[in-house]
Amino acid sequence: MKKSLKRRNFIKTAAGGAVAFSIVPSFVLGRNHIPPSDRLNLASIGAGGKGKGDIINAYNDGANRVVAICDIDTERCKDVVKKFDDARFFEDFRKMFDTMASDIDAVTISTPDHTHAVIAMAAMQLGKHVYVQKPLTHNLAEARQLTEAARQYKVVSQMGNQGASNAGQQQMLEWFGQGLIGTVNEVHIWTNRPVWPQGIKVPTENMELPKSISKSAWDVFIGPANYVDYHPLYHPFKWRGWWNFGTGALGDMGCHLIDPPFRVLGLGYPKDVECSVGQTFSQDWVADVVPEGCPVSSLVSLTFDATAKNKSEVKVKWYDGGLRPSHPELIPSDEPMGDEDGSNGVIMIGDKGIITCGTYGRNPKLFLKGGEKRSMAKDYTGGLLYNDQPEHGHQRLWTEACKAGFNSAEHKALTSSFDYSGPLTETVLMGNLAIRSYNLMDDKKYPGRKKLLWDGKAMKITNFDEANQFVSRKYRKGWT
Ligand SMILES: NC(=O)c1ccc[n+]([C@@H]2O[C@H](COP(=O)([O-])OP(=O)(O)OC[C@H]3O[C@@H](n4cnc5c(N)ncnc54)[C@H](O)[C@@H]3O)[C@@H](O)[C@H]2O)c1
Repeated sequence: MKKSLKRRNFIKTAAGGAVAFSIVPSFVLGRNHIPPSDRLNLASIGAGGKGKGDIINAYNDGANRVVAICDIDTERCKDVVKKFDDARFFEDFRKMFDTMASDIDAVTISTPDHTHAVIAMAAMQLGKHVYVQKPLTHNLAEARQLTEAARQYKVVSQMGNQGASNAGQQQMLEWFGQGLIGTVNEVHIWTNRPVWPQGIKVPTENMELPKSISKSAWDVFIGPANYVDYHPLYHPFKWRGWWNFGTGALGDMGCHLIDPPFRVLGLGYPKDVECSVGQTFSQDWVADVVPEGCPVSSLVSLTFDATAKNKSEVKVKWYDGGLRPSHPELIPSDEPMGDEDGSNGVIMIGDKGIITCGTYGRNPKLFLKGGEKRSMAKDYTGGLLYNDQPEHGHQRLWTEACKAGFNSAEHKALTSSFDYSGPLTETVLMGNLAIRSYNLMDDKKYPGRKKLLWDGKAMKITNFDEANQFVSRKYRKGWT
């Protein structure tokens, strides 16, 4: 404990107060030697799937130390356990914090969406810096709470929308800031997701838990959600298509693709949301609605007020499940839109021109009314560090900000701390609130199929109260 407290003096503490520096100069230790005291002690929660990249990038070739790994599935996370073989392993993050909280400075959280909030809140309450995968949370109320908690507990936070640290976003900010496309009033965003089973029936077969998952670990997987028995249509990866765990196509890609217009136009809370949702029919006239599952496709339309950066109201339209916006006049017909293969993309339409990009803000292009077209220069960095590194250094920048401390210049320079990514996530989850309201049925009518008016500050739909059940969720007993 004593040793750990001494070491922790080095890593600037949450309060960001004076730090007792006693770094052994590197000429004593040799070139490139990082004094152990200058390393962050990291824990990875959810170390399989995306978590593997998150913790390896945060480890940053030994600039930091991985002291704990937590995963509910010993098979899924085995690569990370093997790579960091002196880290302690846990299947329950609560036990991990109970056992060794004082040895941990910061955690990466890469579990399914429904457990981000409870895990991140537990970490922040202990003063741990947090890197949380996107979407930041499963519901709107959790996003607001985490945003406030990061300030309250004075921790350095970052959401895992790594494209935010990509030079492409800076390029778009620059083009828009120079007034090149004028005022934007229309944005179109599309994705090829879902690319996992979605809009299917709830599985009913009894399945044995795989040997790599204990009964108590499955209970931790479920966390605050409604209890269901294990099924391979839930874990791994496929939890995305079920509201109990995931956030569908919009939750999966919204934080990557809505990020560029949200940032470039400086958007705030939307003021209304409207949607239409794809249907399938296996019998005449009666749609196959599965309330537990996210739909096969959706089109969501959000309206935002004018902002300090963009002097017009903006309509942001989201398309998923194979739907795509039509090709704007100004973009030549044979020019691919968004990603090279057109699978995902963003189009911001201004009165003087258009900016487009693909996933993670990649491949930004500018089309002006006079016929001029511009792409991003290969060596453009937009002043961002580590652009050539995995995921543009998004996790590495977070670890450096953790060392510099809460409110440091490094912290303020982060592209997706919760001050930014909380409201972004709320915007994404507004779409899901509309999608879920769309299929609410009352006496064979669908009262939620209308424009829903949103009071962002109060976090409330003002013209259809039933929709407010999707602002938050009732947690399973034992979870807060
Ligand atoms: N930023 C990106 O590009 C990107 C890409 C993929 C996934 N993601 C996000 O990462 C998160 C995980 O997605 P995935 O595709 O890796 O899912 P996954 O199911 O493949 O992996 C999740 C991992 O977390 C473990 N896990 C599940 N519940 C846990 C719990 N309560 N405690 C500890 N471990 C737990 C699982 O065993 C597994 O190893 C999601 O939020 C997803 O949206 C982000």
